[in-house]
Amino acid sequence: MESAHILAVEDSEITLFKLKAILVRLGYTVTTYANPVLALEWLNTSGVKPDLVMTDVMMPEMDGFTFVRSIRAMPSLAAVPIIMLTSVSDVEARVNGLKAGADDYLNKSVTPTELELRVKALLSRSQADETTFVQSVGRTISVFSQRGGVGTTSVAINLSIAIAQLWGIDVCLWDLALKGGHCATMMNLKPKNSLAELGELGGENIEASLLEKFLVKHEAGVYLMPAPPSVSESELVTSKVVDQVMPFLQVRSPYLIVDAGNHLNEPVMNVLERSDAILLTLAPDIASVKSCSDALDVFEQLGYDLRKVYLVINNIFPMRLLPVKQIVSVLKNRPYHEIPYDSSGFVRAINTGEPLVATAPKSEAGLALISLAYRLSYKSMETSKKAEKASPLLDLFHKLRPQ
Ligand SMILES: Nc1ncnc2c1ncn2[C@@H]1O[C@H](COP(=O)(O)OP(=O)(O)OP(=O)(O)O)[C@@H](O)[C@H]1O
Ligand SMILES: [Mg+2]
Repeated sequence: MESAHILAVEDSEITLFKLKAILVRLGYTVTTYANPVLALEWLNTSGVKPDLVMTDVMMPEMDGFTFVRSIRAMPSLAAVPIIMLTSVSDVEARVNGLKAGADDYLNKSVTPTELELRVKALLSRSQADETTFVQSVGRTISVFSQRGGVGTTSVAINLSIAIAQLWGIDVCLWDLALKGGHCATMMNLKPKNSLAELGELGGENIEASLLEKFLVKHEAGVYLMPAPPSVSESELVTSKVVDQVMPFLQVRSPYLIVDAGNHLNEPVMNVLERSDAILLTLAPDIASVKSCSDALDVFEQLGYDLRKVYLVINNIFPMRLLPVKQIVSVLKNRPYHEIPYDSSGFVRAINTGEPLVATAPKSEAGLALISLAYRLSYKSMETSKKAEKASPLLDLFHKLRPQ
């Protein structure tokens, strides 16, 4: 295959030189400009259509946002993937970059490995067609069930930790189970603030730096956006708050996992609609299968693409009450994944506040959760088989997973 052509625009000669060296080593054709105005001129006159554009934010003559908007205004480049280069702390620039039309952001201090992963992920995403959509799950994954108590929160927490640990990346976990969010308790975290305060403010423009303050870090690399402490305060997390917060969380970390709870209210529908994948958790019993079927009907009525809905059977009972075959025939949908029953593991996890994948990754249920995380993320994360420094969890998973 012909190598992809990357246009890099950055006013610092040193950063530009470094970027180019890495990208050329990876086999890409690279064109560089220190001035965005000259880069636009080149795009307009040369007829070259790069496969990917990387641009700095602060540059003389034209800033990165205007540059991105100018590219998007060119019909032949309206869909080209664009990466904004920002400094580590510049969360606001990332959000503004996305608003201007960028697809992703990268810290300037990025390691060559991370750079390679992100570039490959964006290039392959832009080359993907309708048929590959189902296999390559995007980076916002919501976990939902129309029925309570089937393990939605357990799946969301363990999925977040497993993705963070498998790939050595940050993951955001948003507790949107507004009628009683349990993520903080189950992760032994003690949030001081919650998004309910934003509802009270009712502001239009929320600074990214303010949102950052609501996040609570778990040592496994997961940043939790906690649920408000009471049901009445949860009502302040409206669909408008979702509009303001979701774009920030989607660029804050490579993955956003949402515990969408078990109430299909307006803010939850808003999040599900914008998610790349919805994991619908169900237990193998009649009531749960019925709720799952209802949820699928509602999703269809709402016009969601049902290809983004993945059924996850969670065995919360010691015995199987309904065989998978029967579940498939009722739901007309094959389960994507199954998590075995593990009473002591999950009870210990709740009592100690230490999620299962962090404490018992080798247990059957731990391994099933890691495997779920792997299946959902490896296409975009494991783009290079060779040079990646494997994480201890990835090593363990490769050793122990059933063939
Ligand atoms: N595979 C499993 N095996 C055994 N117990 C499990 C399993 N998955 C979850 N549990 C247990 O089931 C209970 C409910 O789990 P969890 O809180 O994750 O579900 P939920 O759907 O989020 O519930 P809620 O409706 O309260 O939000 C917990 O006690 C949890 O430990
Ligand atoms: Mg829950």
